[in-house]
Amino acid sequence: MTLPDTDSAERRRPLVVAIDGPAASGKSSTAKWVASELGFRHVDSGALYRAATAAALRAEPDPRRWTEDGVLAAAAIVTLVPGERSFEARLEGAPAEEELRGSAVTSAVSLVAKMPRVRAWVNDRVRAAAEGHAVVVDGRDMGTAVFPKARVKIFLVADPWERAKRRLLQRFERLPTEAEIAEETDALVRRDAKDEAQTQRASEAVLIDTTYLTQREQVERIVALARSVMR
Ligand code: C5P
Repeated sequence: MTLPDTDSAERRRPLVVAIDGPAASGKSSTAKWVASELGFRHVDSGALYRAATAAALRAEPDPRRWTEDGVLAAAAIVTLVPGERSFEARLEGAPAEEELRGSAVTSAVSLVAKMPRVRAWVNDRVRAAAEGHAVVVDGRDMGTAVFPKARVKIFLVADPWERAKRRLLQRFERLPTEAEIAEETDALVRRDAKDEAQTQRASEAVLIDTTYLTQREQVERIVALARSVMR
């Protein structure tokens, strides 16, 4: 009897690069760029939590009245549509990027992300997206709960002030003022606290502090790590 060679079976599986980290640590933009360098697909798990939240807000604008069953029922309008290099979370079949990134969704999303059956709903969709394709996935628990066997695990961190500044630069397309950065830093630190239980760093994840790195440098490090395990 020959025993299955689990190590080589593992090596033949499509590669998963899991990138986790706190809000605005640059996970999604980095993951997207890494995916395009490697020819992989990008899956943004946060976009699914945002889509479920946006769907819940459409069904019931007051989050205090939400129940887990209600959120899951509302989330039936969410689809994850594959593109050439990434997946897009849509609502009722239509793109909804602005709604997903808006302040109403951002302030309610941590509440939805605490619901265990919503987490299972997101995880099923993320795993299905990774089926048969090499992927770069980003979120809070990709390298732990969702892809514990991912061959590349990264945990991105950055100083909250720097994260706030980058987020505002992206939003305003101008230099933010100190007061604006201070206000955004507070909001980010509050969201980090709400997401703390869901944010898990795998013990084997490579920690990258991006405070003093350019995005190109972050991408190059992750691509080099992925290429070294693909050899
Ligand atoms: O990544 P992003 O900030 O867009 O994620 C939005 C929210 O989704 C987070 O604040 C967090 O509450 C939740 N999330 C999560 N687990 C993930 C990804 C996102 O709980 N894997």
